[in-house]
Amino acid sequence: MAEPRPAVTTLQFNTTVRFGRGARSLLPGELRALGIGRPLVVTDRGVIAAGVLALALGDLRGDVFNATPANPTEDSTALALAQYREADADGIIGIGGGAALDLAKAVAVMAGSPPGHEGTLWEYCNRHAAPRPIQSPPPLILLPTTAGSGSEVGRSAVIIFRNGIKAGIGCPRIVSLAICDPDLTLTLPPGMTAATGMDALSHCVETFCSPTINPPVDAIVLDGLARLSAAITLATANGSDHAARWDMMMGALEGAIGFQKGMGAVHSLSHALGPLGFHHGTLNAVLLPPVMAANQDVLGDKLGRLRTAMRLPIDADIPEAFAALNASLGLPSGLGAMGFDRSMIPAIALAAMDDNAHRTNPQPLGPLDYEAILNHAL
Ligand SMILES: [Fe+2]
Repeated sequence: MAEPRPAVTTLQFNTTVRFGRGARSLLPGELRALGIGRPLVVTDRGVIAAGVLALALGDLRGDVFNATPANPTEDSTALALAQYREADADGIIGIGGGAALDLAKAVAVMAGSPPGHEGTLWEYCNRHAAPRPIQSPPPLILLPTTAGSGSEVGRSAVIIFRNGIKAGIGCPRIVSLAICDPDLTLTLPPGMTAATGMDALSHCVETFCSPTINPPVDAIVLDGLARLSAAITLATANGSDHAARWDMMMGALEGAIGFQKGMGAVHSLSHALGPLGFHHGTLNAVLLPPVMAANQDVLGDKLGRLRTAMRLPIDADIPEAFAALNASLGLPSGLGAMGFDRSMIPAIALAAMDDNAHRTNPQPLGPLDYEAILNHAL
């Protein structure tokens, strides 16, 4: 192994997870164990309309906040926090995709402080050298209903703040328990299965390629990549494929365990593009080929390990393989097909430079490099 060996590296594995088909049935007992008697359920209308909230909750009843937007915002956090206090809730259950889970985390970040003393959500953002400390958050249980963000085990909540910036709130110990039941994803439509699955796959790729030294995480995210790259086509084609859904959910979880290594330019760019209203996973799918093309010269033997995980031929072109996967899943061919206006390229390139994921891209990038990637991604 020719890796440099730093004097100190940090390995962090935070969240207890109950994982498996039918795991949702554990929720009532876990609520009792955590002392939650009056939960606020944070979800969205799509999860409710699809019948997934009812499937997840069974006979449980709780006050429901259903107005999670496609990308969680500071304003939606304030609304949910007001409902939490109005209901005199004593815990939070997040049920949904990454948006609902991150919103549930953001509510927990604020809810531990007395009303009027919680500050603004922006003060907790990881863009600050010293974010505001989180005070006594209430117990929080997360149940993902997509296999994508991995927020249930991720170290942060990604929010669009009132200043227009999309960035994270570091809250690695805020989740009391994740309950991962692949059956909650069985009705996820093909387009969302593909788009959220490519988000998870991009987490595995970007965290593996990050220069941060963390061999246990490398093994975990390569396992995730192997599961996701094998299962994403199956789960997209046949949503009732239980084995593929299990692998997708496990791969999403594994990718998010990798966040502690930091990500790269796929996510620095998708965070910069997110406030324009584009879907996060779809952005990552179309950004993966050009970002890997920009990075591959410095990845050394990691390229071979990526090919092995994805069961590609030994001489396969990895950016082309990701582009072919996107096409086979019916995802857009580029940012242009998503409605992105090329006049935004310079501003997005500069915004990506400020994102935390920029710092752990394997190849150091400047604004002109980002502009070249965005042009390639059109
Ligand atoms: Fe992501």
